[in-house]
Amino acid sequence: MSFVLKIERGSTEIWQHQFAELMPQMPLHIWPDYGDPADVEYIAMWTPVPDVVEKFPNLKLIFSLGAGVDQFDLSSLPAHIGLVRMIEPGLTAGMVEYVVAQVLSVHRDLPLYMQQQRECVWKVWPERVAAHTRVGIMGLGALGIPCAKAIASLGFITSGWNRSPRDIEGVTVFAGAEQRDAFLHQCDIVVCLLPLTDETRGMFNAELFAKLPKGASLINAGRGPQVVASDLLAALESGQLSWAVLDVTVPEPLPAEDALWKHPRVVITPHIASMTQPDSAVTSIIANIRRYQAGEALVGVVDRGRHY
Ligand code: GLV
Repeated sequence: MSFVLKIERGSTEIWQHQFAELMPQMPLHIWPDYGDPADVEYIAMWTPVPDVVEKFPNLKLIFSLGAGVDQFDLSSLPAHIGLVRMIEPGLTAGMVEYVVAQVLSVHRDLPLYMQQQRECVWKVWPERVAAHTRVGIMGLGALGIPCAKAIASLGFITSGWNRSPRDIEGVTVFAGAEQRDAFLHQCDIVVCLLPLTDETRGMFNAELFAKLPKGASLINAGRGPQVVASDLLAALESGQLSWAVLDVTVPEPLPAEDALWKHPRVVITPHIASMTQPDSAVTSIIANIRRYQAGEALVGVVDRGRHY
């Protein structure tokens, strides 16, 4: 039995320390080292190792190092190998911070005032209050629920949309395709935290933007391909949308010549909304390995039918 960790950036020190502390009997290999391939039962990675199934014949679980799993080709993974999304408090806390920061920034016109400062313009815009501002979170999972609660705690009129119903105190939940339009009609700020699936690819298009109240804003911390960029630019030009805050783009990195970079109503961050934090990530991975070894249900295991 062994564990392979393949990280793309940052130090492996905390990972090694935490593993040695919490599961000393588990040999940890840092990619590209993997020891005897027949011993490898668990692997944690962001970008997939090509031919991982052939390379490690006794592989049991693949842990995504991020909340998303769209980088994996689910059709090539045999059913007996579990794929697990990263659900850990550090990643969640980062997303709550990002969503709260961007909602407040749009709500208080901070991008506009920053532009005015660059031009030495002292101009006051009408104030809005949270109690009259409707924020809607799309995707009420491990990240969306705490974000919705945090937004609600600031006094915003908070709602959420999810595939299946949820019961969240202080948050009005709309569920399923049949309630999506009703949800969109009442979002002054819509936040996308949806996973990338066939259903959500291209979801933020002209048709969806037209269902939002005029002058609404979009914050996308989901995945770039969920937004049709040409439709987004048209909606910003027409005033249908006021602001677009994009942490994710197509492609990433966004090329310097892309029109989104310089658009005065677009705020771009380079996919930094939230990062997996090694110390809490190891705790969550090891808890799942223990569940697996005990034959219990895992937390965050991907449903092959839903693709998340
Ligand atoms: C980042 O985008 C993640 O999926 O954690």
